[in-house]
Amino acid sequence: MKLARTTAFLLFLAAFLCAAGDFIALGQQSPAKTPSYNDVVPIFQKHCIQCHAGAKPPLGLRLDNYEDVMKGSDEPVVVPGEPKNSSLFLRIIGEQKPRMPRNGPPWLNENEIALIKQWIMEGALP
Ligand code: HEC
Repeated sequence: MKLARTTAFLLFLAAFLCAAGDFIALGQQSPAKTPSYNDVVPIFQKHCIQCHAGAKPPLGLRLDNYEDVMKGSDEPVVVPGEPKNSSLFLRIIGEQKPRMPRNGPPWLNENEIALIKQWIMEGALP
C-alpha cells in the first residue's frame, strides 16, 4: 500500500517535471501559445498594407483583414499548415519573385519571418 502510493507520487512528479520542462523549452524558443492573426497583423501593417489594401490592391490581394488574407488573390496565398505551399511565405523569403515587400530591401527580419511561418504552420488561425 505504502509502496503503491510512493510509486504514484513518483509518477506524478515525473509527469510534472516533463510538463514543466516542455513549458520552459517552448518559452525560450518561440511564443508558447499558438500564434493567431492578431500576432502577425503588426507585420502586415508595417510592411505590406501600403500596397495590399484599398480598392485596387496588386493581384487583388488585400492583407489588411483576416478574411482577405485567407481569400488571397485569384488563388490562396496562405495554405494552413503548409508554409512551403503558401506564396505569401515564399514571397517574404524570396523563393518566389518578386520578393515582398515589393519596395524592399529591407526585407522582413528573421523574427518576423519566423513568426509568419509559425502562424501558417500552426493553422493560420484568426
Ligand atoms: C510597394 C508595394 C508592395 C508592398 C509594400 C508589398 N507588396 Fe506584395 N505585391 C506587390 C505587387 C505590385 C505584386 C504583384 C506581383 C508582381 O509584381 O508580380 C505583389 C504580389 C504579392 C503576392 C503574390 C500574390 C499572388 O497571387 O501570387 C504576395 C503573396 C504578396 N505580394 C505578399 C506581400 C506581403 C506579405 C507583403 C509585406 C511583407 C507585401 N506583399 C508587400 C506590391 C507590394
